[in-house]
Amino acid sequence: MVKSVGLKKIRTAVFISGTGSNLENLVKFSLKKKSPIEIVLIISNNAKAKGLKYSKIYKIKKKIYNYNKNKIFETKTLIDLKSNGIKLICLAGFMKILSGDFIRKFKGKILNIHPSLLPKYKGLKTHERVIKNKEKYSGCTVHLVNSKLDSGRIVLQKRVKLSEKETPLSLQKKILKHEHILYPRAIDKIFANP
Ligand code: GRF
Repeated sequence: MVKSVGLKKIRTAVFISGTGSNLENLVKFSLKKKSPIEIVLIISNNAKAKGLKYSKIYKIKKKIYNYNKNKIFETKTLIDLKSNGIKLICLAGFMKILSGDFIRKFKGKILNIHPSLLPKYKGLKTHERVIKNKEKYSGCTVHLVNSKLDSGRIVLQKRVKLSEKETPLSLQKKILKHEHILYPRAIDKIFANP
């Protein structure tokens, strides 16, 4: 008798600080049969992050480390990542900057999604700056994380046209819809099962 061998999914942690729409979107993606990832851990540096509700909804373990000191956050998080066998971290609206030390110590890949066409508009308040500079296009980028802010190798990008009456809020909403398509695609691009 031939046994069917289940695909082994990559154990993934998602780091959030806020709303968590990308988290929920990644969870839905991970539940698809062909998805290369399974999300087994949610980490937040903010106990009030709205996205933490998805831990209960989708029955995923969560850890909240609300420390000002990066060192404590990172030490505790690294222990969790190891004990949960995490091989991939997806940053999704995670507002803390991870140290070079953390990135070196984590033996896996770290991905981030950023709401601009990197290398343009690294950092915060991207939509405000894009509109102020009268850009015709903005977009979103999924990239690997290295020790320099928003500077790791780009995996995928989506360009979005600004309308004439664009506001930071309308642009944020417009780009967020594309983020939800782009992040799963980028994960598939790196890890897709045949
Ligand atoms: C997204 O725009 C993401 O690109 C940025 O932070 C936002 C998070 O949104 N890094 P959400 O919490 O996933 O809804």
